[in-house]
Amino acid sequence: MKKVILTGDRPTGRLHIGHYIGSLVNRVKLQDEYKQYVMIADIQALTDNFDNPQKVRDNIIEVALDYLAVGIDPKKSTIFIQSLLPELSELTMYFLNLVTLSRLKNNPTVKEEMKQKNFGASIPVGFLVYPISQVADILGFKADVIPVGEDQLPMIEQTNEIVDKFNRIYSPVFKRVSPLISKFPRLKGIDGNSKMGKSLNNAIYLSSSHEEIRDKVMAMYTDPNHIHKEDPGKVEGNMVFYYLDAFDTGKDTIEQLKARYRKGGLGDIELKERLITVLDNLIKPIRERREEFSKDKDAIYEMLKRGSEEARVITEKTLAEVKKSIKINYYE
Ligand code: TRP
Repeated sequence: MKKVILTGDRPTGRLHIGHYIGSLVNRVKLQDEYKQYVMIADIQALTDNFDNPQKVRDNIIEVALDYLAVGIDPKKSTIFIQSLLPELSELTMYFLNLVTLSRLKNNPTVKEEMKQKNFGASIPVGFLVYPISQVADILGFKADVIPVGEDQLPMIEQTNEIVDKFNRIYSPVFKRVSPLISKFPRLKGIDGNSKMGKSLNNAIYLSSSHEEIRDKVMAMYTDPNHIHKEDPGKVEGNMVFYYLDAFDTGKDTIEQLKARYRKGGLGDIELKERLITVLDNLIKPIRERREEFSKDKDAIYEMLKRGSEEARVITEKTLAEVKKSIKINYYE
């Protein structure tokens, strides 16, 4: 039997080149080898967007289009919407009993996010417990492997703590899960911020037009002391080289460009033109497929409905086992 992967994204915006290099490329590869479930995590998106439900609703289709455009194939991967699987919420309730408040507050990912969002003392409970809902997503599918970035390892730890506790207190229903750590560290934004994101307005989207790519690359900072073409320039911290290193497959050419830039004689415009070409070569086929798919949105919603029905069969089965294990299967 194929091993199971569960992965997903919050529908809070279109996906960008950071998602592409960090996870989407992987998913396209992994869908042949694994049984892959790809979740559009609308319930999780609401934990920090509860006051903006229209945003979450509108982005379901945007994320689905991005998935299809990059080559996640609904014949190989099951793409579904989290809220259409109520079993996941029910599992969350049972798992909540197995985690302490102090453990939740000490989750490094949650800690970091709480700081960023400036919740202060008024943390919505839904936000605080989203890691448990995430554990329910993973265990609902009895996933073997979870693709994560380094920064999300606490999520795997939390999952395995619940696995151990559940199996010990009730009966052995779950197996421990393993992380599959992304080789690529989180992609920085075009402003050099450690995170690329919509709210930071520093992302390059997979749906970008040629002009949008051009504008964003032209706005990138290079080396502030590299004023004239002849000036020697710095490669380190230079965002254009950072993205070339990430996306340009012509490694020899980049090394030559770096040498020329350091020595002096390579202008920022010429360098940026190269990055524009590289990014456009990457994004153009994705953009075109996306446009093609977006002509029939009904078909996309239909695909998500079918995927959710298929996925629900699995979570129903898991929930039945859990209820039996907790002895609340009264009428079975
Ligand atoms: N946390 C992920 C995100 O922010 C989405 C997600 C929800 C997820 N549940 C998951 C990812 C379970 C992997 C496994 O995009």
